[in-house]
Amino acid sequence: MARILVIHGPNLNLLGQREPEIYGTATLEDINRQLAETAEQHSVELDFFQSNHEGAIIDRIHAAVGSAEGILINPGAFTHYSIAIRDAISAVPVPAVEVHLSNIHAREEFRRHSVLAAVAVGQISGFGTYSYVLGLLALIDHLKRQVRLK
Ligand code: DQA
Repeated sequence: MARILVIHGPNLNLLGQREPEIYGTATLEDINRQLAETAEQHSVELDFFQSNHEGAIIDRIHAAVGSAEGILINPGAFTHYSIAIRDAISAVPVPAVEVHLSNIHAREEFRRHSVLAAVAVGQISGFGTYSYVLGLLALIDHLKRQVRLK
């Protein structure tokens, strides 16, 4: 069965209590559960990883080679400045989809630019927890079209 690595970046471990007016009240566990249901419907398996550390995220992206067919990532604030995470995504032959709970294009100026978007298959932003589901569906569809999944 195909595997997809789900990466949650910094501060996303606090979802549910963190600025609920922006990020909603769902916890990371709620999101992972929602993703697991979608994955099951599409016969894919998910590995979940959350870290507040740039290097740990980079190591996990490297480790995806040979162990995952795709990466679903919410890079949190690293979205806006981590050239190192961008380079890790371009360094591995594993397609990545970028997702955000909030609409980063409708927020502060510094959040409107993603340094990762250009090396991702695409970006989904602004649909709350449903951004993750949409991102997962888009990634599965992409992998099917790339014939990485049957
Ligand atoms: C976020 C948006 C980022 O700007 C912010 O730093 C986050 C969460 C989102 O999911 O909306 O941590 O990635």
